[in-house]
Parts: sequence; structure tokens; C-alpha cells
Amino acid sequence: MRHFKILGVFIILVSVSSFQFSSEIETNIKTPTSDSSTHWLTLYGKYIYQHESCANCHSLVDTEQSVYISLDGLSGKYPNSWHYNHLLEPQMMVPDSKMPVYAYLIDKPLNQQTFNAIIDQSIVQPSAINPNTLWQILHEEAQYVANDLKKYGIENTQSTEILAIIAYLQKIPASPIRRQKDSIITAEYKRKQQIWDQVLIDSNHVVMKNALDKTNIPAGKIIFKNNCSACHGIDGEGLIGPNLTDEYWINGAKLSHVINTIVNGIPEKGMMAWRNQLTPLEVGQVTSYIFSIKGFKPKHAKQKQGMKE
Ligand code: HEC
Ligand code: HEC
Repeated sequence: MRHFKILGVFIILVSVSSFQFSSEIETNIKTPTSDSSTHWLTLYGKYIYQHESCANCHSLVDTEQSVYISLDGLSGKYPNSWHYNHLLEPQMMVPDSKMPVYAYLIDKPLNQQTFNAIIDQSIVQPSAINPNTLWQILHEEAQYVANDLKKYGIENTQSTEILAIIAYLQKIPASPIRRQKDSIITAEYKRKQQIWDQVLIDSNHVVMKNALDKTNIPAGKIIFKNNCSACHGIDGEGLIGPNLTDEYWINGAKLSHVINTIVNGIPEKGMMAWRNQLTPLEVGQVTSYIFSIKGFKPKHAKQKQGMKE
């Protein structure tokens, strides 16, 4: 099991995570989904983590051995409901997910004997406390997680294992290595944002200048082929994204509109922001290419969308 073939998956993961660079940063802001009030449930969750062999694929600390998918610093990264759905049906949360389904944890009640054994084995020595009292507390903690799930429309009134594993996942801390990486990523992200904010203040900015410079078309064509053609078609004829060769625009036809669409994206409509992937020069170049293909009538052109210019 340890030599699981997850390298391929990992490569996809890495590309997905750089793809979602900006949302990564946002999700790094910790969600207050857990607190110290799930101590016993967390302990039970740790047992489930071991029992279900999650460690066959996962590590709890970032390591150089990238065959493991690290859960380092997972605490607060996602709401409880995300974990619930991911365990229930991984592909609901991660398209093409290779994570096994753990839906049966929803129906598996927490077991008192198992719990007693967990307490006995743990370094925590609650000798002064009656095990039945702890069992009672465990249920209250489970209820705490269940109530949070209810806010997301997930009804789970039973104290089952899924609540314990979620409680555990919400407590996986960030190691020093992870924290250092996070701060580097955040600093880099801020730096890129600042560059863009400065660029866009100026109405005659560097992106605009480069977009109007026809010598940029060949470079822009390469950028387009590598980054945009998957959705807009190899000749800009439109595919998932709209046809960029016709006179119809959903988000405005002016040069400034088009630049804004590329830089900031329309994320809710499936067009991502490119400000973290492309430099101002590159956005200028790809824009010059887009304006150069206007009026071409490629084969299989997608139907017009939006308003005529
Ligand atoms: C066979 C390998 C495998 C096993 C076993 C496995 N996972 Fe995963 N897990 C993955 C993969 C692959 C991903 C990457 C995202 C995806 O595919 O959903 C992932 C992602 C995750 C994530 C999201 C991490 C993040 O930062 O986005 C969590 C949480 C998680 N797994 C928890 C668990 C738990 C809990 C168990 C055990 C009950 C478990 N996994 C068992 C393969 C596995
Ligand atoms: C993952 C798919 C995807 C990728 C990759 C993509 N786009 Fe888009 N793009 C879309 C979608 C979908 C829309 C339509 C958004 C809407 O409905 O408002 C769009 C809209 C646009 C528009 C506005 C069109 C209009 O009618 O207003 C421009 C310009 C554009 N994309 C340029 C680019 C450039 C340049 C790249 C590469 C750097 C790129 N896109 C990469 C999916 C994508």
C-alpha cells in the first residue's frame, strides 16, 4: 500500500494548486470551525485516521518525500462541511479526485469500548474522571460539530465516526516548515498584487502600451496557445469560453474592458484571473494577439455571445 501510485495524482494536485493560487491564499485565513472543545472527539478521530490507513497516502508534516499528500496545517483550511462532503464523495469537492470514498464513516457509530481503549492508550491520564462522564462529553463534542454541519444543510444527528475524523482534521497544526512556506507564498502573492495595483492606476499603463504594440502579436500568440486555447479554442474560435474573433463581447469590447477581464477574470463564470500567472507585459502581449485575430472567421466558430461592439 505504501508504494501507492499517487505520483501522477500529485502532479495534477500541484498544477491544480498553482491554478488556484488566489483562492489558496484566501482559504489560508483560518475558519473558526473548531476550538479546544473537541478534545476527546479529536482523540477518537486520531484513532480513526490510523485505523482507516489515511497515512498510506497522507503525511501530517510537509516533507521532501512528495509521494505523500501533506495535510500539514490543515486546521481551519476548510469548513467542516467541506470535509464531510469530501469524505462522502471526494469528486464533489475535487474534480477528478483520487481519494477513496469514506461514506461509511457517516453510519458508523462511535463505540464506547473503542473510546475507553483510546483513553487507556493515550498519554492523557484522566484517572480522576469517570469514563462514562468522558463518554458523555464526547457526545456533546460530536453535537458541536453536528450543529456546525447543520448550518450548511447537513443533517447528521447521530454521533458517528465522520464527526470525529472531521474534528481531528480540524486540529492538524502547521509545522514550522509549513508556516515558513506559507509566509513566503503570502509575501510573493502580496508583491504580485502590488505590481498589478500600481500598473492599473495609470490609464496609459504598460499593459495598454504593449497591447497596442503590434510587434507583440507573435509572443502573445504563444501565450494564448499555452494558457488560453484550452477554453477559447486554438484559433480563438471559442470552446468553453467565448469566441474571441467575432464582434460580440460579454464583458465589454474596449481594450480596457478586455484587459480587465484577463487581469481580474470572471471567476464565477469560469474565466480565471491571470494576474498571478502572467506578468503585465505578458497580458499586454496576449491582448495584442486577441485584437489581431478579430474579424477572422475560424472554422467551428462558437455562436455569438454578449453584445455587438
Ligand atoms: C489512496 C490514497 C488516499 C487515502 C487512503 C486517503 N486519501 Fe485523502 N487524499 C488523497 C488524494 C489523492 C487527495 C488529493 C485531493 C483529492 O483527490 O481529493 C486527498 C486529499 C485529502 C484532503 C484534502 C487535503 C487538502 O489540503 O486539500 C483531506 C482532508 C484528506 N484527503 C483526508 C483523508 C482522510 C481523513 C483519509 C482517511 C480516512 C484519507 N484522506 C485517505 C488520497 C488519499
Ligand atoms: C478555464 C477556461 C478558460 C481559460 C483557461 C481562459 N478563459 Fe477566457 N473565458 C472563459 C470563459 C468561460 C469566459 C466567459 C466569461 C463570461 O461568461 O463572462 C471567458 C472570457 C474571456 C474574455 C472576455 C470575452 C467576452 O466576450 O467578454 C477574454 C478577453 C478572455 N476570456 C481571454 C482569455 C485569455 C487571454 C486567456 C488566457 C490567458 C483565457 N481567457 C483563458 C474561460 C477561460
